Amino acid sequence: MNLNLQNATYQLTPATANNVSPVTIIQLTDTHLFKEKSGKLLGLNTHKSFQAILEHIAGSAPADLILATGDLAQDGSSDAYRRLSSALSSLNMPSFWLPGNHDDPDVMAQSMINKFVFSQKRILIQNWQIILLDSKVDNKVHGQLSSEQLDFLHACLSDKPEHYALVALHHQPMNVGSKWLDGIGLKNSAEFFAVMARHSQVKGVMWGHVHQEFEKNMGQVKLFSTPSTCVQFQPGSEDFEAGMQDPGYRRLQLLSDGSIESEVIHIRPLDFKVDYSIRGY
Ligand SMILES: [Fe+2]
Repeated sequence: MNLNLQNATYQLTPATANNVSPVTIIQLTDTHLFKEKSGKLLGLNTHKSFQAILEHIAGSAPADLILATGDLAQDGSSDAYRRLSSALSSLNMPSFWLPGNHDDPDVMAQSMINKFVFSQKRILIQNWQIILLDSKVDNKVHGQLSSEQLDFLHACLSDKPEHYALVALHHQPMNVGSKWLDGIGLKNSAEFFAVMARHSQVKGVMWGHVHQEFEKNMGQVKLFSTPSTCVQFQPGSEDFEAGMQDPGYRRLQLLSDGSIESEVIHIRPLDFKVDYSIRGY
C-alpha cells in the first residue's frame, strides 16, 4: 500500500469482533445545520430534526460506523460542524464524513475530528472496504469527481481486490427522475462508472443531495440515495418542490458474501413544520 493510501485508511475492528456478522452502517445525510441552533431550512429547524434522528439512533442497536454524506452544514460554519461532531461522538460509534456542495471542506477538516469522528476517506472492516469521495465543485451546486478522486477510487479498489466495496459520495451519479435535481447531479458519472467497471468487487454506491429515497440495481451493484435528516424534496418533481416525507436515515448491513441489505427509517420530530411556499434552498 503506498503512503497516501495508508494515510487515508482507517482499519476498523468490528464491534462484534466476529468476522461473519454483517458490518452495520448508519448513513446520515444533508443535515444542513446552521451556526445557530435556531437555523431553519424551508421553515424546518434542522437542529431539532437532527436531534430527533439522533435520539432514534441512540435507542436502536449500535452500528459499526456512521457515514455522513455531505451538506452537513448549510452555512459552512465551524460551530455547526463542531456541534455535529460532538453529537455524533455521543453515540460512541466511529463516524466518517465527506463534503457536499453546501460544505466548506477546509472548515470541516479542522472541525470534524474528535475521539469518534475521523477524517479518513477509506475504511477497511472485515472483508469490505468503504470509499468516501469528494464530489464538491467550488461555488457550484452540481458535482464532479476530480482526476485525483477518480485515481483514489481506482487505487483503493486495485489495492484490495479481495475486499467487497461500497462507495459513497454526495452527488447522485445517475438520474433520479426529477428534472431540476437531475440537472445538478454528478457531471462526470461516465468516468466514475468507467473506473467502477474495472473492479467487479464494487457492490454498492450511495449518496445524499437529492433529499429522497431512491434505489436501483445496476448488474451486481446496488445504488441508492437516502432522505435528509431535515426537509425532503418531492420525488419526480419537474421544478424545485419540498416533499411531505418525514426526516430520515438509512441503516445498512454489508454481508460477508458481498450482498447489501438496507432500510430507510423515517422519524417525525415533535414540531415538524415545513414551509411549502418557499421555492428554493
Ligand atoms: Fe447537496
